[in-house]
Amino acid sequence: MSISSQSVMASKTIVSDITDSDTYPLLTYKLLLVNGVNLNLLGKREPEIYGHSTLADIEERLVARAASYGIELICIQSNHEGQLVDDIQQYGLLAETEAQVDAIIINPAAFTHTSVALRDALLATQKPFIEVHLSNVHTREAFRQHSYFSDVAVGVICGLGHLGYQMALDYWLVNTYGINLEG
Ligand code: DQA
Repeated sequence: MSISSQSVMASKTIVSDITDSDTYPLLTYKLLLVNGVNLNLLGKREPEIYGHSTLADIEERLVARAASYGIELICIQSNHEGQLVDDIQQYGLLAETEAQVDAIIINPAAFTHTSVALRDALLATQKPFIEVHLSNVHTREAFRQHSYFSDVAVGVICGLGHLGYQMALDYWLVNTYGINLEG
């Protein structure tokens, strides 16, 4: 299932064919998965809404899937907004270009509905991100229907449980690296 260096090269060649190679950013083959407040409780927390998988289960599966295509998936979770801002900065502007991540998957959890700070931290990275929610926030309380992230996300996946994270990962594998998932 691993990506051949030929297919990585093929996607790079296509990218450099259509962009100015001096300005096209270097790919680092790193992705970032960010999980927000209370998601450390997955598996125990309201399983009828959030499912039975623990965060460790989800992260392990995604890290292995990314690695099988030669991509490093870095996983962070915190219950503290400022900690998440610090961590996101470390993989964005505060990192050397070669150490920055290429794209981000984030479930901000309750910070979705409250955090201008996290939104700004993501925008500061200048990296594209996908917003994921385990539950379908649109069928729940009214306060869950506003997100500080959706209008600046590449896409939003909600209501599909832990598979939503895999779909977001697959999107980046195909669209950032040109990986053929069928291969
Ligand atoms: C959530 C939805 C949020 O409204 C909630 O606060 C969460 C989890 C989800 O994954 O469904 O903690 O982001």
